[in-house]
Amino acid sequence: MTTLQTPPAIDHDTLMAFVFRGVEEAGATLNAALVVMGDRLGYYRAMADSRPITPADLAERTSTDEHYTREWLNAQAAGAFVTYDPATATYTLPPEHAVALADESSPAFLPGLFQTALGTVNDTTRVIEAARTGDGLGWHDHSDDVHTGCERFFRPSYKAHLVAEWLPALDGVVDKLTAGATVADIGCSAGFIADELATAGATTLGLDIDVPGLGKAAERFGARVQFVCATGDALPLADGSVDVLVLNHIYEHVVDPDAVLDELHRVLAPTGVVYLGLGNRLGVVEPHYRLPFLSYLPGPLADRYVRASGRAEHYHERFRTRRGLRRMLRGFTVWDYTLPVIKDPARFSNTDVVSPRVASLPTAAFRVAMPIVPIFIWVAAKSASRPRGATLSTPPERVHVPAGR
Ligand SMILES: C[S@@+](CC[C@H](N)C(=O)[O-])C[C@H]1O[C@@H](n2cnc3c(N)ncnc32)[C@H](O)[C@@H]1O
Repeated sequence: MTTLQTPPAIDHDTLMAFVFRGVEEAGATLNAALVVMGDRLGYYRAMADSRPITPADLAERTSTDEHYTREWLNAQAAGAFVTYDPATATYTLPPEHAVALADESSPAFLPGLFQTALGTVNDTTRVIEAARTGDGLGWHDHSDDVHTGCERFFRPSYKAHLVAEWLPALDGVVDKLTAGATVADIGCSAGFIADELATAGATTLGLDIDVPGLGKAAERFGARVQFVCATGDALPLADGSVDVLVLNHIYEHVVDPDAVLDELHRVLAPTGVVYLGLGNRLGVVEPHYRLPFLSYLPGPLADRYVRASGRAEHYHERFRTRRGLRRMLRGFTVWDYTLPVIKDPARFSNTDVVSPRVASLPTAAFRVAMPIVPIFIWVAAKSASRPRGATLSTPPERVHVPAGR
């Protein structure tokens, strides 16, 4: 017997609001292509002096065709990336936009992010095929734009701040580096963190399981960094041999994070330190898919959520809460630098993430919010240690972890 079902009522306003949001997202996708075009053809760099320019000027400066510069400038004006003066029929890249679009050394530089987004869109066919077959599509399977864009987006921040500002605020890390310490970056990906540490004077290893990625990293930084294919839970390193270990945005991707921490404990020198950038399961917006509360959900529900969002077939990342991370770090001495970094964004060059207004909120408010901060920055040692870095206005706090390893 067939059961007749009443179709759900459609609210016209909700429908139209959703359609307009979708149109905006499609527009943003198209604009990503235009930003990559402006970056690759040198349009932004040619306008970086922030002087008014005509399409003919831009075409001449970049040795490109005027028909295209005109269309591109009009689209950029429509998106408020450049301004248009109808009186003179000229276009201007405002100085702040020039920093974000043409200064590759600036931590505010955006085209790398657009390049990653466009590279991901270009991988659509392969992602669809993987969804059909159920095969995985690894990070290394993405097109080159995804890797190169990622590096161009993150590298200026690391370059500007890692050795100059972030590490000096940690306990004795820079002294170790400049004394020619041995450093291992576990899950080094494109290798640019490892390269910065090598530039600071350390003997540096970059380890990852992504062979093509390691090949690319070696092409760029192989003169300073030794890249090795190895998994974090079986490191080809002697006991107690590494002075500084880096584990930045890795544990959620590995099958057995506890085994990785066992290995870090084994290879760390008695006076060595581990730098840990640890995503928080209770961070409200999941960082890979930008979906609210995704990491809160148990596996099957998370799979359904990413599938319903159209972003992936499965949700593979496995984040832990602060409590779970404390258990993961058992047996280490751990200091939490999250609050010092949030409370003093100028010192840690973090003002693009934490505004001075937010930073000036009372420390007590941050303590209340601590369970849901997106990332914890922890420094761990094998021996009982105290922070030896410069005095900070908000000092690091001891994280109490279970004993034994
Ligand atoms: C999100 S990327 C992090 C890259 C880098 N640490 C950073 O902060 O920019 C994650 C990396 O972890 C690597 N990875 C995943 N599982 C691993 C494992 N078991 N051992 C070593 N690396 C692993 C991936 O290949 C990828 O390069």
